[in-house]
Amino acid sequence: MSISLKGRDLITLADFGTDEILHLLNTAREQKQLFHAHGPAQPLKGRTLACIFQKPSLRTRVSLEVAMMQLGGSAVSLTEAEIGPGSREPVRDIGRVLSRYVHVIAVRTFAHSMVEEIARYASVPVINALTDYSHPCQALADLLTILESKGRLEGLKLAYVGDGNNVAVSLLLGSSRVGMSMSLACPEGYDVPDRVFELARKEAGKRGASVERTRDPHDAVSGADVVYTDVWTSMGQEVEAETRRDIFRPYQVNEELLRGADEHAVVMHCLPAHYGEEITEEVVEGPRSVIFDQAENRLHVQKAVMSLVMG
Ligand code: CP
Ligand code: NVA
Repeated sequence: MSISLKGRDLITLADFGTDEILHLLNTAREQKQLFHAHGPAQPLKGRTLACIFQKPSLRTRVSLEVAMMQLGGSAVSLTEAEIGPGSREPVRDIGRVLSRYVHVIAVRTFAHSMVEEIARYASVPVINALTDYSHPCQALADLLTILESKGRLEGLKLAYVGDGNNVAVSLLLGSSRVGMSMSLACPEGYDVPDRVFELARKEAGKRGASVERTRDPHDAVSGADVVYTDVWTSMGQEVEAETRRDIFRPYQVNEELLRGADEHAVVMHCLPAHYGEEITEEVVEGPRSVIFDQAENRLHVQKAVMSLVMG
């Protein structure tokens, strides 16, 4: 069966079926092989990407722009100050106008509804480059990294320890569709939204996998093949940082916590990391860490996403 993602937006992984996610991952693997062999072909020659970033970024912005350049295209990046979404002009007009100039738009912002609105009015594919709600490009790179390090996705157990944030939401939506079980340990009041949890539970159940939550990180990590964490304070939540540091202290991923995981477990973090908070330096630098492969895979996934949605 041939799968086409031409013309599709990537707003949330909830919009993608298992076959489509696996097709994205296989395409990313091919892109990675090409990259390491002799450089990619240039299928996107003459195409342009516009990036709108209202929050800082290292990985997402560079991987999107470099992916586009390596595929033969070019990229233009716009900050909030330059285009003033919702203040200088309505968000819907940004989607309509950019569609007359470029072939794909990537947006990093606060409200998820803003990416949805741009996508509604744009006539070219729109990619969610992170919102307060989700981070689908990250989750695809995470699944690719797990596939490479474990040789499979189905039947594995991923433990997510920390804040039930945008990264956790996309991981949950992605892993449940590829038959990977997920156990989340988040403090009370910091869980992923119930509707995401229930949706993931239903999807995982169809594939013989499970989704669980606990308040105890040791429970979540017990027997896990993958242990994943992210910052306790996400971009835009800086005023809560001190309170969060106190609440999340028992949720640090450190060597002691990892003793309960499978002996071959790998450790993941989307980065940027706050060493000594959600993860110790020892773990990031340790033999279980696949964190920098995970960061590299952002590039290969962006290539897969852009080449597929642009046909
Ligand atoms: N992981 C990730 O999205 O990193 P950036 O915020 O640097 O893009
Ligand atoms: N949860 C983090 C992810 C950064 C890539 C944030 O939103 O700041």
